[in-house]
Amino acid sequence: MTNRVALVTGGNGGIGTEICRQLAAAGYTVVTTCVDAEKERIVDWQRELEGEGVKVGWVECDVSDFASCAAMAEEVVAEYGPIDVLVNAAGITRDAFVHKMNHENWESVISVNLDSVFNVTRQVIEGMRERGFGRVINISSVNGQSGQFGQTNYSAAKAGMHGFTMAVAKEGARKGITANTISPGYIDTAMTAAIPEEVRESIVAQIPAGRMGRPEEIARVVVFLAADDSGYVNGANIPVNGALYTSF
Ligand code: CAA
Repeated sequence: MTNRVALVTGGNGGIGTEICRQLAAAGYTVVTTCVDAEKERIVDWQRELEGEGVKVGWVECDVSDFASCAAMAEEVVAEYGPIDVLVNAAGITRDAFVHKMNHENWESVISVNLDSVFNVTRQVIEGMRERGFGRVINISSVNGQSGQFGQTNYSAAKAGMHGFTMAVAKEGARKGITANTISPGYIDTAMTAAIPEEVRESIVAQIPAGRMGRPEEIARVVVFLAADDSGYVNGANIPVNGALYTSF
């Protein structure tokens, strides 16, 4: 058990909620970000978790906005203490073939999924260096590794995340900081439920495991990477995809 503080962006999402649950179960003080508390019904979400005995704090923050991230981090540190574990899990899709994609859909996916990783990490990394401990865990995607129809924006952002991870890993290695990427495959969440049914069925048919993944199968890897004694796993990109995409 630990008493470290873990910040999870997009912690109220399909994968994020399970990450919050498992980090809380491992003893972390868990705080999530949400863009619009009222719209996202964050208080109901928090209460539901509380009913299960899981305590999670939240702060409003637009992760695509640097100033908003700075204010959020200040609030988290003041209320909960220094942030030792950062899980960048906030993400959106705006799928369209590249020949049909508009600039807004390109920009929003790049800013929410990729700029956010700098915007939030930048707020916590100096403290991690000073304290000689930190864990940065970036939730990417199999589609950042393999590319996907309709996802030039998402695939580019998710691939970019791992470039960021590798550089942070090198910069932080002597300061007790690790940075790693997790690349989930198709996980049973609202995001994959939004894929047109026929397309989704054809994708699932290609998964050697014969099924979609479950959020808890991602969260357990987060808990592993966050642990104090996982310090030599650094700069890795861990696939959790039911063998949908394999590589050296
Ligand atoms: N594999 C093979 N063929 C595909 C395909 C795929 N994944 N996706 C689309 N196509 C084909 C269609 O079958 C269709 O072929 P025909 O012309 O021969 O009929 C052609 O491409 C055009 O497809 P649509 O009629 O659907 O065209 P559209 O412009 O309306 O939509 C699309 C295209 C946006 C790509 C849509 O098909 C779609 O949303 N696909 C799903 C994309 C996807 O996988 N998103 C993942 C979201 S979940 C996620 O991102 C989480 C994660 O990290 C894994």
